[in-house]
Amino acid sequence: MDLIHQFLNLVAPPFTFFTLLFFLPPFLFFKFFLSLLATIFSEDVAGKVVLITGASSGIGEHLAYEYAKRGACLVLAARRERSLQEVAERARDLGSPDVLVVRTDVSRVEDCRNASKAAIAQFFETLRIEFGPDIGITLVTPGFIESELTQGKFMGEAGKLEVDQDIRDVQVSIIPVQRVESCARGIVSSACKGEKYVTEPAWFRVTFLWKIFCPELIEWTYRLLYITRPEESPKDALGKKLVDFTGAKKFLYPETIQVPDLKKD
Ligand SMILES: NC(=O)c1ccc[n+]([C@@H]2O[C@H](COP(=O)([O-])OP(=O)(O)OC[C@H]3O[C@@H](n4cnc5c(N)ncnc54)[C@H](OP(=O)(O)O)[C@@H]3O)[C@@H](O)[C@H]2O)c1
Repeated sequence: MDLIHQFLNLVAPPFTFFTLLFFLPPFLFFKFFLSLLATIFSEDVAGKVVLITGASSGIGEHLAYEYAKRGACLVLAARRERSLQEVAERARDLGSPDVLVVRTDVSRVEDCRNASKAAIAQFFETLRIEFGPDIGITLVTPGFIESELTQGKFMGEAGKLEVDQDIRDVQVSIIPVQRVESCARGIVSSACKGEKYVTEPAWFRVTFLWKIFCPELIEWTYRLLYITRPEESPKDALGKKLVDFTGAKKFLYPETIQVPDLKKD
């Protein structure tokens, strides 16, 4: 048994490397061709019902506007009802024939948020395999997107909502933050084309390649950028120093996230 694994350890990496080398170019060409076809036969969502959770701000809010422009009926869910009503009003102005607001709090599952995200992704991938083309499922992976999160909103230790732009600077550092309108446009357009995976901005996909092929490099970069010595404040991290010293924030972050301005309910 051990011998089989030793053999595979030796053979599988070069085999995979060369197979990918030959397989990837025609595969990418085929995908490009499919995406051209999908652009022509993109789904018409006019009159269809779209349920958006987390629609009171950020990506969810702008997805609502994008679907509204395409004439979809909307069900908008989140906790801040007043913000949802404002989003609903704008969505109607943009062309949605019917918008329903549902105040929803999913905080009871908040503790297992990350775990459930991974589980949900797995669940939808399985569903897609089982149901084939009958159900369209698009899994979205955002990079850094203009929203309340990238304004510095996070859940503090006492479970209280806090805004700290210094911590945001540490986390985002010199990575460009995409405008939320352009992110929402990309997501809706890809979903209507039936694409299975979407990364916005698209260049962010290369980070997954680095993670698969050189996970250690990603770990070292994280440590270098984000981790400080015990006697230092987390805000002394190199990630923040980089944005502060270069003044890159002005060019890399949209103006809306350079000052904290969360919606109130
Ligand atoms: N922005 C980024 O750079 C980025 C990057 C990677 C992944 N993401 C993911 O993308 C998703 C949207 O993020 P965003 O940037 O648009 O953040 P956001 O502006 O903070 O929006 C989060 C939305 O979720 C709703 N929400 C939060 N807690 C809720 C609860 N307990 N019950 C019901 N609704 C709740 C919020 O509404 P209420 O507060 O009114 O309930 C809000 O509408 C998140 O899952 C985030 O982790 C974002």
